[in-house]
Amino acid sequence: MATSSSTPAPTAHALPSYLQADHLGPWGIFLQQVDRVEPYLGNLARWVETLKRPKRILVVDVPIHLDDGRIAHFEGYRVQHNTSRGPGKGGVRFHQDVTLSEVMALSAWMSIKNAAVNVPYGGAKGGIRVDPKTLSRGELERMTRRYTSEIGIIIGPTKDIPAPDVNTNEQIMAWMMDTYSMNQGSTATGVVTGKPVDLGGSLGRREATGRGVFTVGVEAAKRIGLDVANAAVAVQGFGNVGGIAGKLFAEAGARVVAVQDHGGAIYREAGLDVPSLLKHVADKGTVAGFEHAEVMDADKFWDVPCDIMIPAALEQQITKANAHRIQARMVIEGANGPTTPEADDILHERNVLVLPDVIANAGGVTVSYFEWVQDFSSFFWDEDEINKRLVRVMQQAFAGVWQVAEQHKVSLRTATFIVACERILHTRELRGLYP
Ligand SMILES: NC(=O)c1ccc[n+]([C@@H]2O[C@H](COP(=O)([O-])OP(=O)(O)OC[C@H]3O[C@@H](n4cnc5c(N)ncnc54)[C@H](O)[C@@H]3O)[C@@H](O)[C@H]2O)c1
Repeated sequence: MATSSSTPAPTAHALPSYLQADHLGPWGIFLQQVDRVEPYLGNLARWVETLKRPKRILVVDVPIHLDDGRIAHFEGYRVQHNTSRGPGKGGVRFHQDVTLSEVMALSAWMSIKNAAVNVPYGGAKGGIRVDPKTLSRGELERMTRRYTSEIGIIIGPTKDIPAPDVNTNEQIMAWMMDTYSMNQGSTATGVVTGKPVDLGGSLGRREATGRGVFTVGVEAAKRIGLDVANAAVAVQGFGNVGGIAGKLFAEAGARVVAVQDHGGAIYREAGLDVPSLLKHVADKGTVAGFEHAEVMDADKFWDVPCDIMIPAALEQQITKANAHRIQARMVIEGANGPTTPEADDILHERNVLVLPDVIANAGGVTVSYFEWVQDFSSFFWDEDEINKRLVRVMQQAFAGVWQVAEQHKVSLRTATFIVACERILHTRELRGLYP
């Protein structure tokens, strides 16, 4: 559009600066979270800009041959948010709604999470904008390998270590490891975590995030006088995280009364048969169609009477539109970024305790760290050892965050950010600026 002004008019396609918190989606939420924590950082606050600027962003084109001979192109990303405390670490997501904003935010939450549980990593994340259900196995493998090759210039066992996230699994990690190794000319098991156990993966990794969700849930329940063995639990997302968390709560005596996933929502007041439901999901890919439950309107999930709610699907699920409807005493964020800042405030005012993602779902990366250590030493631990160490790390991290929350009279999210940002910015200061 022509203009008489001397400053160029913004075009309809302008990309906003990533430092403007408005209209930036998940990344904007992260910027707001950093602003909330800044007043508590004392002298370290002078380094806070570091957190608002991802260290490195790689956008890649991922072209592949489809089975029918056509060529398809996919948008791929790898973002390294901060590497002050060690190599980048974070999952790879395959989802049709992946955006750069989302990957930036997820990478930043990984920086916070890794520092919160004190594993020696920075934060990173990757993704491809694709619905993998539309691809054949061969197409999925070619896409994964081409993506890995494209981001190969910035990943590596001492640089940045990917892992599974939504719609990626052990097989995808095996292909990523093999592709990277082929390009390097030697097997590099430590380049990704969440691999199959026969390929340098760790026992207990698959269950680790759900186990961490359960562990912090039990720790928090003790502190607010909630009896887990008699609690009613509602879970959104019944994949790796939600499914395992639901299973462990059920084993502890809780009733899993409602589950919602991409296919629909189900309810049973007396408690769902979780092992049967897990089997149903493994066969059908969704909780929909599970026989031993009532079908529920997906939106009604937020009204379900329960003590504990576990969002374990995607981000921005608990919003100002549904936060006032949640009946739980405690929300445990299995997913990354499931609660918007407005919803966070509403839950806080309503005295609903939120166990934030940055601590609640850190069990996965903790066992990823164990996997990486085992790969380097080529010495593998048994599952009992791994679970014990995981529980210890989660309990210690949670106790530290709880103490900071009490000390400053802040939410657990802000407390986790205080603990993590202090650790990140302290190392930033110790390392100094290069050159
Ligand atoms: N897997 C891990 O180790 C790990 C670690 C930390 C955080 N997380 C986070 O946990 C969340 C779930 O990851 P996962 O590994 O369990 O993924 P997954 O692919 O195994 O499961 C995702 C679940 O979410 C459901 N879902 C997808 N879209 C939905 C929608 N629109 N409404 C309701 N449900 C929907 C799916 O049906 C499925 O049950 C993500 O936010 C991920 O970033 C995962």
